[in-house]
Amino acid sequence: MEQFENRLKEIAQLVSEALSVSLSDALLSDEIARPARLLKAMRHGALNGGKRLRPFLVIETAGLFGVTADAAMRTALALECVHCYSLIHDDLPAMDDDDLRRGQPTVHVAFDEATAILAGDSLLTFAFDLLADEATHKDPSVRSELVLQLARAAGHGGIAGGQMLDLEAERKTPDEQGIIMLQSMKTGALLRFACEAGAILGGASREDRARVKDFGIKIGQAFQLADDILDLTSTAEQMGKKVGKDADAGKGTLVSLWGLDRAKAKADELVVESEVLLLPFGERADVLKACARYIVNRGK
Ligand code: IPE
Ligand code: IPE
Ligand code: MG
Ligand code: MG
Ligand code: MG
Repeated sequence: MEQFENRLKEIAQLVSEALSVSLSDALLSDEIARPARLLKAMRHGALNGGKRLRPFLVIETAGLFGVTADAAMRTALALECVHCYSLIHDDLPAMDDDDLRRGQPTVHVAFDEATAILAGDSLLTFAFDLLADEATHKDPSVRSELVLQLARAAGHGGIAGGQMLDLEAERKTPDEQGIIMLQSMKTGALLRFACEAGAILGGASREDRARVKDFGIKIGQAFQLADDILDLTSTAEQMGKKVGKDADAGKGTLVSLWGLDRAKAKADELVVESEVLLLPFGERADVLKACARYIVNRGK
């Protein structure tokens, strides 16, 4: 596990460095200007730590199909930009109204609400800029497939839709299936993309692509379960964000429905199921399996 955590840290460092370069004041062709305050807010929201779990999954899944970390990096960055946008907007007063993220003031607190909205908008848009550029992959059909799948994961049928359902869940607690669905959208969709993207980049067979995509779906479920468990059991210092928020908001989660023990047991079950999906890849998938474990062990 220590070996895994070192590797995660190493990649997180590379991701942060590459993001910092991408979010500099150097203009790309046809950009007119990057207003300093907006760029600063984007950097605050994207370069403030973070486990970089999603970029890690892109890079490691791509590695399964012979793609180097370098060649997968732009896709990894695009995904992290969408993730950071989703956190900035998730923290807004109109949504979860949080003032702490990754151990620092949230973007709307450090700047202001309008700037936070625009920083989120810009990071989301920039993700598709990163993917569509020729530098991401020489084959335009690979690039357009990445764009399509990330759009599906981010939009009304993915994150944004899941966030809508999540807000509605504060007023009327959904049943088990309803919670599973909303979580598969607000959180699962991006983890699914993280794993599928590696297969798209590596030109994997249809079967292999489906396998890693299913792996992403499973660990997505496990991830949100762990997040909900930690919301109840951990401290703000450990998490770098406020805890106890779900209970305060009366938010229906699987933990509130099942209780802690059953939620933890289910998370373990999901890890085992996710590992089974990777069996055909043998030892080459050990890092991904360790990642699935890590996701759930955070919750213990
Ligand atoms: C937090 O995601 C938001 C959820 C989807 C629950 P992470 O736990 O991956 O957050 P960072 O990127 O490490 O800050
Ligand atoms: C966040 O879910 C999901 C997205 C940002 C899309 P949460 O609201 O549970 O995430 P935290 O706990 O604030 O990180
Ligand atoms: Mg939320
Ligand atoms: Mg939140
Ligand atoms: Mg949470």
